[in-house]
This record gives sequence, C-alpha cells and structure tokens, in this order.
Amino acid sequence: MAMLKRVLNLAETRTRWFLQSRELRHVADMTQFEDYVARTQPKEFLRYRAMSSSKRTEFRAVVDAMGVGLKGLRFLDVGPAYGDALDICHEEGAEIVSFVEIDPVFFAYNSLKPYANGVRLNHLLGFNALRPQTYDLIWVKGSIKADSFELLDRAAHFMARWLRGLETLAAPSCQILICPYWDSSGGERAVDNVHGSPFSTAMRSCGYSALAPIRHHNDDVAYPITFHKEMSRPAAAWATAHPGRGLAAGNAQPSPEAGCS
Ligand SMILES: C[S@@+](CC[C@H](N)C(=O)[O-])C[C@H]1O[C@@H](n2cnc3c(N)ncnc32)[C@H](O)[C@@H]1O
Repeated sequence: MAMLKRVLNLAETRTRWFLQSRELRHVADMTQFEDYVARTQPKEFLRYRAMSSSKRTEFRAVVDAMGVGLKGLRFLDVGPAYGDALDICHEEGAEIVSFVEIDPVFFAYNSLKPYANGVRLNHLLGFNALRPQTYDLIWVKGSIKADSFELLDRAAHFMARWLRGLETLAAPSCQILICPYWDSSGGERAVDNVHGSPFSTAMRSCGYSALAPIRHHNDDVAYPITFHKEMSRPAAAWATAHPGRGLAAGNAQPSPEAGCS
C-alpha cells in the first residue's frame, strides 16, 4: 500500500512538473513570473517564499558558525528552493552563484535572478552538466533524504558514487556542507540515533565529519546533522585549525575513504 502511494505521488509530481515547465518556458522576466504565480498559486513555491526570512537566518547561522567569507567565493547550492542562500551569497559579493534544481518553479524563479546561473537536473543522476573543480563552497540542505540514500546505498553502493560526483565540482580547498533531510512526522524523526545510522557511517567513511549542531539551522527534527568536508584537509586537521567551530561528539576518525574507494 505504501509503495502504491509512493508511485502515485511520483506520477502526480512528474505530471505537474511537466505541465509547469511547459508553461514556464515562455516566462521571460520577473513580472511574467509573478503573473504565473498569482494565476497558478504553486503550493511549494509559496510555502518556501513564506519561509524566506527564517531560511536566510538558517544559512547565515551556518556561514557565521563556520567563519566562511562569502566575498569572491564561488558558490554552488544543490537544491536551493526559493534561493535564500543564493541571495545572501550574491549580497555578500560572491563571484559565482550557481545552483542545480529539479523543480521547474524554483528553477525558473532562481534563473531569473540576474546573478544566478542554474541547471535544471536531477542530481541523483549525477553532476556531469556542471564544470568540474569550480566551487569553493558547496551547500546541500534538504535535497537529499538520508533514509532514501540508505536504501539506495544498500542496493547499489550509491552514496560513495554520488559523493565522488559532487566532489568533482570542488575547487582545491572547497568546503562541502551536507545537511540531509530525515523522514519525520508529527515532530518525531523515524531514525532516533542519526549519528549511529548507516548513513552517517557511510559519510564518515568518505571523509566527512558531523558538525556540532548549529542554532537555527539544526532546530528542525528533520535536519539534525550537518556533514562537512574540506577537500584539501583531513577532518582532524580542520578541527585543530578551527577550535571554536566544533565537531559533534562521536566523530570517529574516518577510516581512509573505505566506502569511497
Ligand atoms: C527540502 S528543500 C530544501 C531547500 C533549501 N535548500 C533549504 O535549505 O531550505 C529541497 C530542495 O531540493 C530540490 N531537490 C530535491 N531533490 C532534488 C534532486 N534530486 N535534484 C535536484 N534538486 C532536488 C527541491 O526541489 C527543493 O528545492
């Protein structure tokens, strides 16, 4: 029954995306886009627009906690939704503001921002459409589901391959921050011990460390944990160089790229 529901949801989403992207192809500027929004009331877009201020606070909290300077930075957002992180990076002088997005409404909206360049793709199929070794900061919040990744990983060693694809986009010393969504309902997360989960184990084996929770950004039960990797530096060296910006307790030393080789 649950499987049938999933298939029906997927079919509904794909049909909606098909119809939306057909219409949005003709939208050439923000005025036309706002006409489209007023006429069709796209639910998810309006939900994220309403959350814009708190989403800005979340991203800002991470940037401050990590001490990342955005000026001159080359930034990639994997799944920006309304694009608050893109906007902040632009406002603070980032050199490149890029995104990949599967949803046609979010894609169209962010593409109309004169400073943003995006690719409409399903990142689960890879990142070949983007220029390798380009980004200094790669931000992934909510566009991967830890629970689904675990299933894919069990079936097809998916995570190491996906991470390798993502990491091809990283410039030397790029920082990658990944905050997956965890299934939850009614304020209860399906997985209680996220640190001990197969997902977190696989992330650690690929050289990622879990950061200590960051206020605002990790407040929601669905976003309890953020993984971090600085491409040129092993996690232990990063933690020593940034003593104020803690790693979460329970970060075992990553075994050398075990799941990733
Ligand atoms: C839960 S929202 C999170 C949005 C934003 N990053 C945030 O922090 O609130 C997930 C976003 O990722 C996009 N997304 C989800 N799966 C994707 C995929 N496979 N490929 C590309 N984008 C995806 C969604 O359309 C949506 O914009």
